[in-house]
Amino acid sequence: MSRKALIAANWKMYKTPAEAKAFIEAFLPLVAAHDRDEIAVFPSPVLLPGVVESLKGSAVAVGAQNIYFAEEGAFTGETSVLQLKAVGGTHTLIGHSERRQYFGETDEIVNKKLHTALKHGIVPVVCIGEVLEEREVGETADVLKRQLAGALAGITAEAAAPIVIAYEPVWAIGTGRTATPEMAVEAHKIIRAEAARLLNAEIAANMRILYGGSVKVDNCNSLIGQEEIDGALVGGASLKAESFAAIVKY
Ligand code: 13P
Repeated sequence: MSRKALIAANWKMYKTPAEAKAFIEAFLPLVAAHDRDEIAVFPSPVLLPGVVESLKGSAVAVGAQNIYFAEEGAFTGETSVLQLKAVGGTHTLIGHSERRQYFGETDEIVNKKLHTALKHGIVPVVCIGEVLEEREVGETADVLKRQLAGALAGITAEAAAPIVIAYEPVWAIGTGRTATPEMAVEAHKIIRAEAARLLNAEIAANMRILYGGSVKVDNCNSLIGQEEIDGALVGGASLKAESFAAIVKY
């Protein structure tokens, strides 16, 4: 099975337009000859048009960190998938744990957003993962299955092909604590088996499952190098061109 890896930068609420431009100017030469993997960056909405412009002519994709499920309307502060497409964005994160934790996103909201992204041809990167207490009491598999089933509700196997899953154990995000490769592989196998049950075996076999949570230059090889791990969603280490480029070239 050859799944092309996706190495993605989640910049979270960092960078001004000038900082984003400087990043791209430094980053593109570092990955100029690199076509083994797909690369995507996920900046804040206000940065999207400038980042798309700066990346023109490169193979680096641009996505939103979040979209709303309605196509337009009176939803102050939200960004629609149509707005994202209009400025040249092709991907979106959905259900990042920070959205779940601080902005009340439920599996039901994640599901609505996933339907909207797929309807409009935006590549969705759906984030799932357990918190520390859930891992400690042995509930990791149940949480992953529940979040995946919630996200995929009403989505047919035919429609599901573009979906990317990011396994992000919440206790590993921004903490410097990573899942061991064994822990990540075990979680990815659970997710893939559940995707096979909910969709079908072929879709599941082709589905990219990324790992996220304190991915750094010095641990990326041991994680992304695993057959079950189809790339990374990188937070802190994606903010500097040199470290993100080194991870891309794991
Ligand atoms: P860190 O790499 O900073 O732990 O963030 C991971 C993450 O949340 C990516 O979406």
